Parts: sequence; structure tokens; C-alpha cells
Amino acid sequence: MNSSIRLGLNAIHVWRASLEIKKKDIQVFKRLLTPDEKERADRFCFEKDQANFITGRAILRTLLGRYTNQSPADIKFKYNSYGKPLLKKQVQSPPFNFNLSHSGGKVLYAFSRGIPLGIDLEKMKPDIDFAAIAQRFFSHGEVSSLFSLKKSDRVEAFYACWTRKEAFIKAMEMGLSLELDKFNVSLRPGEPARLISIKSQNQNTRNWSLYDLNVFRGFKACLAVRSRNIIISYYLWDSTC
Ligand SMILES: CC(C)(COP(=O)(O)OP(=O)(O)OC[C@H]1O[C@@H](n2cnc3c(N)ncnc32)[C@H](O)[C@@H]1OP(=O)(O)O)[C@@H](O)C(=O)NCCC(=O)NCCS
Repeated sequence: MNSSIRLGLNAIHVWRASLEIKKKDIQVFKRLLTPDEKERADRFCFEKDQANFITGRAILRTLLGRYTNQSPADIKFKYNSYGKPLLKKQVQSPPFNFNLSHSGGKVLYAFSRGIPLGIDLEKMKPDIDFAAIAQRFFSHGEVSSLFSLKKSDRVEAFYACWTRKEAFIKAMEMGLSLELDKFNVSLRPGEPARLISIKSQNQNTRNWSLYDLNVFRGFKACLAVRSRNIIISYYLWDSTC
């Protein structure tokens, strides 16, 4: 299946894929990458990280090719000053946006037209030292909400908070230059994902929506979009795509 894919104006497409690919397919994927991407792949110390990067980038190119009617190898990226990859040449109006996240051998991609978005995926590790990470990166409000929960709920709430915050900073395109303790997201079990408050950045919480994505067992994932009115569709990428 290599046909083009249409993306409506209020639509967000979320694709999920496994990065565990056969060795022979990795060589095929590598041919889709540019010399600088191949160099980046070669800089990974471990073969597995190298294979994951090649696979994740080749799937991204394949999907972008189908959305924008280009050959995957012809797609050119540019990077903003915070490292976010964007399409160098926009052939559609409103412009085509994408973001991706990988963790634990899985990858998630999100695509939109004109709607700023960010996505984050994390494999949950039950023995993570979440208290130290939360105290370092979360806001005071988030830390106190987290520690008010019963112990058995804390690891999952920690990952809910983490992925919601990361998805939001990725949508803002600013990486870690947007201080993580300057905005609050929900984290309590059963509470819908939402941006509760934000200091400065000329942002209004009412313009933003957060969506938890339950796409892989044992993972947490979140999509952040600057829109109140979207329809999300979910797709699974496999080698027939
Ligand atoms: C960009 C950033 C958010 C990457 O996050 P990450 O969790 O390491 O990695 P993810 O897999 O989720 O995302 C990586 C992808 O995001 C994209 N990306 C890179 N810079 C980005 C930016 N500034 N904004 C949005 N997306 C970005 C890229 O496509 C990248 O994949 P690629 O390198 O294969 O192309 C980075 O700022 C970071 O290091 N965050 C860690 C923050 C942290 O310590 N949080 C603690 C808990 S809240």
C-alpha cells in the first residue's frame, strides 16, 4: 500500500509502529536517508540505537511522502533553533506539521495541517526514581499532587505528568528552553489530560488540548495540540504500508 493519504483541516493522524525490524529491511530503509542522516546513524554507539534511528526516520519519510506526494528519499528537513525537525518546503497550505516520539522500541508519529502539535511516548519503568525526577522537573503544584496520591498510583501518575509536559513543550517547538516548572498539567488518576495553567509565553490554556493516547501496553503517551476542535484517527504502520 503506497497510495497518498489525505489529511483534513481539523484532522490529526496518529501512527504507531514498532522499531523492531529485520536486519535486511534496515539496509533497505537506510537507502531512504540523506548522507547527514546516515552520519547521524553511524554516530550511535549501539547497533540497536542505530537501527532504531534508521527505522524511525525511514518510516517518517515514507509517511511524509504519502501525505505530500513526494518520494520518501526526496523529503528535505530543516531544524528550528531548538532542534525540532520541520518540512523544508511546504507544498500545502495550511502547512503540514508533524512530530514524533520513540521509547522502548516503539514510535509514535502525529500529523496535522496548520495545527501545532507535539507528541510524547514513554515506556513505564516500575522501579524508576520518579521522586527525584519529579522534584527536579515538575512544578510545585504537580509535585504536591503527585505525593498526595496513594503510593500505588504514583508511578503511573508520574508518567502521565511527564508525557503531558513533554508533549506540550514539543508542541511549543522550544524543547527544554521552556521551563518545565512554569506550567501545570493534570496528573491524578481518572482526571482528563489538560493544561491547567501556564506562566508567561503569551499562551492561554484555553487554546490547548491534551489527549492521552493508549496505544501500547506498558507505555504512557500524550498528544498536545493548539486547537480545541480536532478529530484524531489512529493507524498502525507495518511493512505493507
Ligand atoms: C526534544 C526533547 C523534548 C526530546 O525528547 P525525548 O523524550 O528525548 O525524545 P522523543 O523520542 O520524545 O522525541 C524525539 C523527537 O522529537 C523531535 N524533536 C527534536 N527536538 C524537538 C523540539 N525542540 N521540539 C519538538 N520536537 C523535537 C525529533 O523528531 C526527535 O526525533 P529524531 O531525533 O529521531 O528526529 C528534548 O527537549 C528533551 O531532551 N527532553 C527531555 C526533557 C526531560 O528531561 N523531561 C523530564 C520529565 S518532564
